[in-house]
Amino acid sequence: MKILAFIGSLRKESYNSQLAHTIAERYRDRFEMEFAEIGDVPLFNQDEEMNAPPSVLKLREQVKAADAVLIVTPEYNWSVPGVLKNALDWLSRVEKVLIGKPAMIAGVSTGAMGTLRAQLHLREILAGLQVKLLPPAGNELLVGQAAQKFDAASGKLTDEATLQHLDAVVGRFVEFVASVNR
Ligand SMILES: Cc1cc2nc3c(=O)[nH]c(=O)nc-3n(C[C@H](O)[C@H](O)[C@H](O)COP(=O)(O)O)c2cc1C
Repeated sequence: MKILAFIGSLRKESYNSQLAHTIAERYRDRFEMEFAEIGDVPLFNQDEEMNAPPSVLKLREQVKAADAVLIVTPEYNWSVPGVLKNALDWLSRVEKVLIGKPAMIAGVSTGAMGTLRAQLHLREILAGLQVKLLPPAGNELLVGQAAQKFDAASGKLTDEATLQHLDAVVGRFVEFVASVNR
């Protein structure tokens, strides 16, 4: 199974990037993960949509080749970071490669709420894009108080309770992807 990961933070030491890499490594026997380079994508301009830049053409091909998408994003000002929304806007036009694609969403914040508000907005955005998600109840991956849950030296998620919840959600997601793509 091939998964394309979108990370909503471009920060080098991003906790969200650390979570995505933890997922890639922990479940490497279940899927292979590629990382989308959304930081290279210019600001969406509808005048240019028929003439998409190479960074967007590459993203489209990566989405088409993936069995599923993983979106791991921080919350910025109670919503989704602009860099992520920008990439999704490009992918919603001309070739609508996200339609019907299964996706898992997750987020890490330094505060207590674990990106709850951003994920509620993201679910609405993805509904408009006709992306397929597991129902939220029991499947939310909201990681708050990041500084206490990641190991600064290895850059990996080490909080045992969070890892156990992750195991359960990823297990259901892998079955969901198989059923959607069957
Ligand atoms: C522009 C900006 C807006 C933020 N807004 C929120 C917010 O609304 N809610 C929240 O929980 N944290 C917010 N934060 C704090 C982030 O949770 C924190 O910076 C986190 O580490 C970002 O994710 P990253 O480590 O993957 O870059 C904000 C941070 C930035 C830079």
